[in-house]
Amino acid sequence: MKIVNRLAVATSLASLCTFSAHGAEGKGRVEVVHYWTSGGEAKSVDVLKQLIEKDGFTWQNSAVAGGGGAAAMTVLKTRAVSGNPPSAAQLKGPDIQEWGNLGLLTSIDDVAKANQWDNRLPQSIAQLMKYDGHYVAVPLNIHRINWLWTNPAVLKQAGVPQAPTTLEELYAAGDKLKAAGFIAIAHGGQPWQDTTVFEGLVLSLLGADGFKKAFIDHDEATFTGPQMTEVFVALRKLKTYMDPNGAGQDWNMETAKVIKGQAGMQIMGDWAKSEWSAAGKQAGIDYECVPFPGSQGLYSYTIDSLAMFKLSSKNDTPGNNAARDDLAKIALEPQFQTVFNQNKGSIPVITGLDMSQFDSCAQASAKDFAAAEKAGTLAPSMAFNMSTSQAVQGAVFDVVSHFMSDKDADPAKAGKQMLASIQAAAQ
Ligand code: GAL
Repeated sequence: MKIVNRLAVATSLASLCTFSAHGAEGKGRVEVVHYWTSGGEAKSVDVLKQLIEKDGFTWQNSAVAGGGGAAAMTVLKTRAVSGNPPSAAQLKGPDIQEWGNLGLLTSIDDVAKANQWDNRLPQSIAQLMKYDGHYVAVPLNIHRINWLWTNPAVLKQAGVPQAPTTLEELYAAGDKLKAAGFIAIAHGGQPWQDTTVFEGLVLSLLGADGFKKAFIDHDEATFTGPQMTEVFVALRKLKTYMDPNGAGQDWNMETAKVIKGQAGMQIMGDWAKSEWSAAGKQAGIDYECVPFPGSQGLYSYTIDSLAMFKLSSKNDTPGNNAARDDLAKIALEPQFQTVFNQNKGSIPVITGLDMSQFDSCAQASAKDFAAAEKAGTLAPSMAFNMSTSQAVQGAVFDVVSHFMSDKDADPAKAGKQMLASIQAAAQ
């Protein structure tokens, strides 16, 4: 389903969503729709709020809870349909193009030019931020998705010598953790979290090429071949290690179980680190980050970015436009890039920033990103909106979560079902 159709669906929800404008307009106001509501992520976005307020503008926080952003997208569509878009919203990759096609985004070329974004951003990332040759969005970071987070003290108690590096080691660690009475893998049973694990397995078993064939090319042979069956067999096996009380759980609640020592591991993008940091824990001491087993050298990623919307005639004032431009300017400044990303768990998106101020996980991430870029093994995440439309992503989510909940589902048929759903959604 294209955005236009989905916009129509969203209208019926309009009455459920309320937004309030806070404070006086002052110099101008910028309203941002995002979904950074966990403790660590809220702390990260607060950095932006403070810098904007320091410049005398009003920050209007329109945070919509729900990891992965599905609820926030529904709210955004509702707002757009009712002719009352926010100044900015968190959108990514192909979605920026879809919203651009609808004529709802506004150019921030002036800010980009004045602040030399073409020199600050890698060319490939700058391209994603442009619609029809004009900057309409600003990127904030690079999040790596294919991570495994561990609590080394828990692993040690369970007799696991080190963080697993292969799928076999992951299963062995899971067996030991379970036998010692721990939750082996902290995991919330929400479609996007299930798909994060699925995506990790695709990367690990099919490599970056197979990943791209699946999620960018929608290649038939990739979905119907024996390796995709292996992915689903492995997914079923991993399910046996997941938190038995994880149904419907938010990702950060599951991260908390690893932090508190109730669970040994979590498969999650590096926003998980924001929770560890907010709890005052140290990378390499209290927790460890290793690539998702079997996916060393590969790097799946998402880029959080804020797309700028054309304001309603009521809100389209010089003050509000100045506030939006200030947001765009701040987002790529070294000070913001450093503090925001230290809190968020991601790495800076601007080139040439000093990484010595970052912890060992972020340093490893930056190094691995550069190596993967060189080797051609960067994989734009499907689960986090970088490789395909939301319609196709939704089709994948559905097949994965049905597979996870149906213990009799046939792993040899799941790939074919996924291909059929993708083809239907892509029409
Ligand atoms: C991703 C987003 C991250 C994080 C995560 C969990 O889509 O890129 O910044 O918020 O969802 O909600």
